[in-house]
Amino acid sequence: MKKFALVTGGTRGIGSSISQSLKQAGYRVVAIYHANQEAANTFQENTEIPTYKWDVSDFKACQAGVARVTKDLGPIDILVNNAGITRDGVMHKMEYAQWIDVLQTNLTSCFNMCRQVIESMRERGFGRIINISSINGQKGQFGQTNYSAAKAGIIGLTKALAQESATKGITVNAIAPGYINTKMVQTLPTDILTKIIAQIPVGRLGEPEEVARAVIFLASQDAGFITGTTITLNGGQYFT
Ligand code: CAA
Repeated sequence: MKKFALVTGGTRGIGSSISQSLKQAGYRVVAIYHANQEAANTFQENTEIPTYKWDVSDFKACQAGVARVTKDLGPIDILVNNAGITRDGVMHKMEYAQWIDVLQTNLTSCFNMCRQVIESMRERGFGRIINISSINGQKGQFGQTNYSAAKAGIIGLTKALAQESATKGITVNAIAPGYINTKMVQTLPTDILTKIIAQIPVGRLGEPEEVARAVIFLASQDAGFITGTTITLNGGQYFT
């Protein structure tokens, strides 16, 4: 039986590329989305990858959603926690909602989803958990105290869960992409984006497929000795 992968935020941006690359690599895949029904419909039509809708920031929704996916398609072997949002703003102007929405969607979602799959992975003696962090969780970013905190938190969660899971055939790793050519980055004000690209030694934004290729590697049997690490993938913008 082919291994089964679930990708959160899997119908758009980096997540869409990850879902499609996993399918091309021979995995069975489901993509989870939350709000953008139209994008999810188009994605499902074009890729024939099944989609399920729930809010990954909601623990009970994750419980119900993973139960439904498992009943329909079987237990999850590979979990890619990719869903994420930005609500940029400087701390002295930031509303509580901007803080909590980003923390819940970007970080608490990783707990919510890992918690649903970890017991089954432990019982079955195999699992791959891949958490999408960010360059801005490593270096911090002006205007992103919320996002930087959430993405740094993902790296800590990854290291801790990797230790807890190592004896059970489960690897837990993070990927920290830099600025990738998706809507999230394209919608930044042009002057800010121009300044950011000038700070990338490779001289361009990354492509979603370049992140997906790292996911494929970490998901593979060959990557079984790699756990607790963060793959930095940012065109040389920041070295850890
Ligand atoms: N470093 C230092 N100072 C900065 C700065 C920076 N990076 N950016 C702006 N400033 C300064 C400005 O020069 C300005 O100074 P003055 O008042 O002396 O002129 C001051 O800070 C206020 O700047 P703004 O007028 O831009 O403030 P604002 O409140 O209108 O906007 C902001 C603030 C919303 C955070 C805006 O600067 C912004 O959008 N920044 C981009 C944040 C960013 O990079 N987000 C990444 C999104 S993509 C992503 O997150 C994906 C990923 O994983 C990489």
